Amino acid sequence: MAVLAGTGIRKRFGGVEALRGVDISIEEGEVVGLMGDNGAGKSTLMKVLCGAVRPDGGTITMNGGPVQLRSPRDATAHGIAVVYQDLALVDQRDVATNVFLGREPRRGLVVDRGRMRREARSVLDELSIRIASVRLPVGGLSGGQRQCIAIARAVHQGGRVVLLDEPTAALGPEQQANVLKLITRLKERGTAVIVVSHNVDHVLAVCDRVVVMRAGQVQGVRDARSTNAATIVGLILGDIAADTVVHTEVVS
Ligand SMILES: Nc1ncnc2c1ncn2[C@@H]1O[C@H](COP(=O)(O)OP(=O)(O)O)[C@@H](O)[C@H]1O
Ligand SMILES: [Mg+2]
Repeated sequence: MAVLAGTGIRKRFGGVEALRGVDISIEEGEVVGLMGDNGAGKSTLMKVLCGAVRPDGGTITMNGGPVQLRSPRDATAHGIAVVYQDLALVDQRDVATNVFLGREPRRGLVVDRGRMRREARSVLDELSIRIASVRLPVGGLSGGQRQCIAIARAVHQGGRVVLLDEPTAALGPEQQANVLKLITRLKERGTAVIVVSHNVDHVLAVCDRVVVMRAGQVQGVRDARSTNAATIVGLILGDIAADTVVHTEVVS
C-alpha cells in the first residue's frame, strides 16, 4: 500500500502545462529518485505533494484514502515534510534551534533550551549526523552538515514522507556521500523518501525506483537494481520512448 500517491496530477502556470497527468507513488521505507531535464516539472510535483502548490486536477491519497493538501500545514499534519534547495536555516541561530525552528519547546513563556538541546542531540544521534555541538551557529557549518540538519528537522517534525529537492546539488563529494548515507538511514527507519536529483549515480546508489519526468509527464519508471545509467539518461533525453503502461501501482 502506498503511503503517498498522486494520480493524474495536473498543473498549469498560465500557458505552461507544468504537470500533464502525473502518477507517482511511494511506500514506507522506499526511496524514489525523481529525475528529468530542467523544466520537466519535478519541483512542481514536489510542491503539489507538500501542499505548497494546489494542483488543477488529479487526486492525492495516503494509505489508500484521499487527502486534501490545501497548504503546507495540511501536509505537515499528514506527516509529509519537505526540504527545499534553499534550506531556510537561520544562520545566526544554533543547531538545536534550527532543528526545532518554529516549534521550540517552552516552559512558561521562555524556550526550554535544555530540553531543546537534549532532543536535538538525540535526533542527530539517531540519524548518525555528526556535529560537535548543538550550540554551534549553523552559519559556520559545512553545506553537507547544513543539509543534514535540514533533513533532521524534517524528520523531527514527524515526517513519515520526506521530499528532498536536489539535496546534494551544492555539495562537495564527501558531503554528498554523507547526505546519501543519511537517505539510506531514513529508509532503514521506514521513512518514505522522494529525492529529486540530476546525478544518475547517486540515484542508482540509494534509490529503489527511479521515476523519470519529461515535459510534465512521466517518461518512465524503472527498478533501480535492474536498470542502468544509460537507460535513465535515455529516458531523460527522450531517446527512449515513454512507457506505454500507466504506472499507478496499487500494491495491497
Ligand atoms: N510559479 C511558476 N510560475 C510560472 N511557471 C512556473 C512556475 N513554477 C514552475 N513553472 C514552470 O513549470 C515548468 C516546470 O518547472 P519545474 O517544476 O520547476 O521543473 P523542474 O524542477 O523539473 O526543473 C517550467 O516550464 C517552469 O518554468
Ligand atoms: Mg526543480
